[in-house]
Amino acid sequence: KREQHLQSILATVPDAMIVIDEKGIMISFSAAAEKLFGYSEREMVGRNVSLLMPSPDRERHDAYLERYLATGDAHIIGIGRIVTGLRADGSTFPMKLSVGEALTDDQRLFTGFVQDLTERKDFEARVEQLK
Ligand code: HEM
Repeated sequence: KREQHLQSILATVPDAMIVIDEKGIMISFSAAAEKLFGYSEREMVGRNVSLLMPSPDRERHDAYLERYLATGDAHIIGIGRIVTGLRADGSTFPMKLSVGEALTDDQRLFTGFVQDLTERKDFEARVEQLK
């Protein structure tokens, strides 16, 4: 029941939203995330979120999570950062990443919101050319 409720919310959030556990394993992948990255939720659940980013972050993301779990000091949580995402077709794109933390009785989860900045970057480049 609770799971169904979560699924119905995830189907309608306009931003791409990804939920991971403390090992970086994807628990859910919203409809907007499916469209943005080109993977289905069914393919993504159970796999590591590092699949969605290019090197060197890809090899380091597990360590980023471990560092945060060990020290508790946030570098992205509650701050946000512009990073590079990797789509299923191998192309990369600029994205604004916002991460939140949710503690349930039995586990710690991280919620990631992803905003595609491709159009904004293209626009900025065109404005730059007009100067
Ligand atoms: C930390 C990159 C997606 C959760 C980091 C850091 C980087 C990074 C560079 C370390 C920051 C630092 O130590 O200075 C990326 C990239 C992503 C991505 C390129 C592209 C897909 C996600 C998603 C989530 C997430 C979707 C959550 C669902 C976290 C958490 C931390 C972290 C919990 C550690 C806490 C913190 O540093 O505040 N990520 N990440 N990441 N990331 Fe990601």
